[in-house]
Amino acid sequence: MPVQTLDDLKTIKEQSLVKRAARLANAPATKQESEIRPPTPKEVRVILARCGVIDPEDINDYIAEDGYVALTKALTAMTPRQVIDEVLKSGLRGRGGAGFPAGKKWEFAAGQKSDDKYMICNADEGDPGAFMNRSVLENDPHSVLEGMIIAGYSFGAHQGYVYCRAEYPIAVKRMRLAIEQARALGFLGKNILGTGFNFDVELRMGAGAFVCGEETALMASIEGKRGEPRPRPPFPAVAGLWGKPTIINNVETLANVGNIIRNGAEWFMQFGNEKNKGTKTFTLAGDVVRTGLIEVPLGISLGEVVYEIAGGIKDGKKFKAIQTGGPMGGCIPEHLLETPMDYESLGAV
Ligand SMILES: Cc1cc2nc3c(=O)[nH]c(=O)nc-3n(C[C@H](O)[C@H](O)[C@H](O)COP(=O)(O)O)c2cc1C
Repeated sequence: MPVQTLDDLKTIKEQSLVKRAARLANAPATKQESEIRPPTPKEVRVILARCGVIDPEDINDYIAEDGYVALTKALTAMTPRQVIDEVLKSGLRGRGGAGFPAGKKWEFAAGQKSDDKYMICNADEGDPGAFMNRSVLENDPHSVLEGMIIAGYSFGAHQGYVYCRAEYPIAVKRMRLAIEQARALGFLGKNILGTGFNFDVELRMGAGAFVCGEETALMASIEGKRGEPRPRPPFPAVAGLWGKPTIINNVETLANVGNIIRNGAEWFMQFGNEKNKGTKTFTLAGDVVRTGLIEVPLGISLGEVVYEIAGGIKDGKKFKAIQTGGPMGGCIPEHLLETPMDYESLGAV
């Protein structure tokens, strides 16, 4: 049955919570408490809040954690312009690297006159050692889909694409399932929530070219051409996929959108510093005591991450350098450990 109202979501939520409690009561313990790393005081869970909590293969379990409330709110109580304004106000910047304000991009695309516009989720994550996007795609795929649908509504797109690297088979499988389940409940397809808004999503797999994570190469790849970047302008928001206005956002950018619309921009702005709002996931690798996935407010220092979250350098060795941001990042020496992890500060060093 298609969902139409917040009351429908509430009914599903109540049933799902009962089902989850039964599932957990009968589940064999997979990890000892002592094996699970407790979060350090500097860490927060916003993007990763549902990861490990919900069953990512069951849309009802996503709804149990207030999934699709933001979409329902956006489509039934907000105009596309109000959605853009809320995202602009939140200060959400693209998490794919360049940090361009998401709302600004959507505003450009909204201003373009075209019957065909496209919304693309960049799930190519090619940086060696990075698996932040992978974790979100595998453990909370609907948060990404919900962000895409809301974004599409804001600038008038009716078709979306998730471009996911084929090296992420679990992410591909779960995203495919998420799309099917979202379609079955009427969050994708025609006349979403009875509002007359149409939007659907297709999944496309990348074949392992690092460069296809770059937005113009990615679009060429979706079009079936060799994945080569082209000069900009024109920017995708003006002439993108098949020459039509197109927005490309990173997985994590999109996973933030539902939280912003559901809780409001002010809520989102409590995390981060003046120009860098919200949280960010990072993967830690190398000679630190604790490696793995973390989520922190933007703007905390590199030193706090290395010493307070990662537990310092292994085997009492001396700090040499930290390499940030994949192949396009740099090596940061010890005297710059106070550098805040935000777009401006890391760019400057
Ligand atoms: C060589 C290259 C590789 C890139 N790879 C990725 C990637 O894997 N994932 C990603 O989200 N952005 C990647 N980007 C950035 C994208 O071109 C684009 O800026 C981003 O997807 C926009 O989304 P955002 O505004 O939400 O950050 C890459 C850029 C370059 C130049």
